[in-house]
This record gives sequence, C-alpha cells and structure tokens, in this order.
Amino acid sequence: MAEITTKPTYTVRPATDKDVPGINTIVNHEIEVSINNFNYGPRSAEDALKWLNSTIDGGYPILVAIAIIDNQEVVGGYASLGSFRQKDGYRYTAEYSLYIHHEHRRRGLGRILLKDLLDEARNRKFHAIIGSVSEGNEASLRLAAEFGFRVVGTMKENGFKFNRWIDNTFLELLL
Ligand SMILES: CC(C)(COP(=O)(O)OP(=O)(O)OC[C@H]1O[C@@H](n2cnc3c(N)ncnc32)[C@H](O)[C@@H]1OP(=O)(O)O)[C@@H](O)C(=O)NCCC(=O)NCCS
Repeated sequence: MAEITTKPTYTVRPATDKDVPGINTIVNHEIEVSINNFNYGPRSAEDALKWLNSTIDGGYPILVAIAIIDNQEVVGGYASLGSFRQKDGYRYTAEYSLYIHHEHRRRGLGRILLKDLLDEARNRKFHAIIGSVSEGNEASLRLAAEFGFRVVGTMKENGFKFNRWIDNTFLELLL
C-alpha cells in the first residue's frame, strides 16, 4: 500500500467481492500482531470470499470505508454483523466486527463505520447487537460506550493466544 501523507476522504458502502483482498489484509495483520482476533494463522483469500458470501447470504451487512489513494480504491476499514448463535431464537441478535487498517486509525473511521452499521442493523430489524472485546482493547471499549453499549461482563481466560490466557469482555446494545 502507498504511504499515506494526507488524510484521504472516505466513502462508506456495502462490501463486494472486489473488497475481499483489502479486508483480508486488515484482518490478517490483526491476527498476526494482536489478540483482538483469536485466530493464530492468516485467513486464506478463498476463506475470506466464503465469509463475505455467507455473511451477505445470511442477511448480515458488511460495510467498507474506501479511500482513493494514487487513483486506487483502498479499504481503510470494515464493519460487519454476523451470527451470534445459530439457534432460531437468536435470529434478532447479531455480533459485530469492526476493523480499521492500522495506518488509517484515529481518523474517525471506526466511529463512522459503527454508526452506519448500527443504522443498517436497525433497518434490518435486529434487536440486540453483541460485542466481544479482548482484554486491553481500550479503544474498542471507549468507542462502543459512545454508542450506548453496556458491559455485560468479563469472561476470564476464555481465549488462548501467544502462549497465554486472555480475558474477554462482552458488550450489548439493544436497538
Ligand atoms: C478499535 C478501532 C476499531 C477504533 O477505530 P478508529 O478508526 O481508530 O477509531 P476513531 O478514530 O473512530 O475513534 C473513535 C473513538 O474511539 C476511541 N479510541 C480510538 N482509538 C483509541 C485508542 N488508541 N486509545 C483510546 N481510545 C481510542 C476514542 O474514544 C475515539 O474518540 P476520540 O478520537 O474523539 O478520542 C481500531 O483501533 C481497530 O480496528 N482496532 C483493532 C481491531 C479491533 O479491536 N476491533 C474491534 C473488535 S470488537
């Protein structure tokens, strides 16, 4: 990716197949360097495309924030909803994901994407939105609190990555 010297203008729109490489670059970086995603190894391009299609086919939104850099579309971040649990009774509940490319953070993108995602969730008649935040992720906790998410509780040591146990805080917002 080209080095970013000035803050670009971002456009938010639904994700399509062509955004998959950009989304996967962001996710795989986060998998590699952080505990914000509990996978250990990179997600393949094929699996990322499967995820996009099954998410959209399942009735969940995926939004991307796009910047034009050197005449090319660059995915600055994405937000999506996905199944919280499979059983019928959970149909109006969804779990959100929000990832901003590390070079595009602290520019208000997370706030814009989360706002648009929650608007879309209301349009689609979801009732409860769940967040799951790994220990130490103050940025996510602060951003979610801004939108009214309440902390449901912290599960101790339910994750294991980088050779250590990790606590996980669950958040909920009723729409
Ligand atoms: C959390 C994340 C989505 C925030 O995105 P962002 O675009 O950098 O956030 P914004 O610029 O929109 O900031 C919105 C607010 O979030 C909070 N925030 C963002 N980054 C922060 C940081 N590094 N430290 C503390 N608070 C932070 C602040 O309250 C900020 O408001 P302010 O700028 O007025 O102080 C981003 O850091 C990220 O992608 N992290 C890795 C993946 C992840 O943790 N996803 C969430 C899993 S639920």
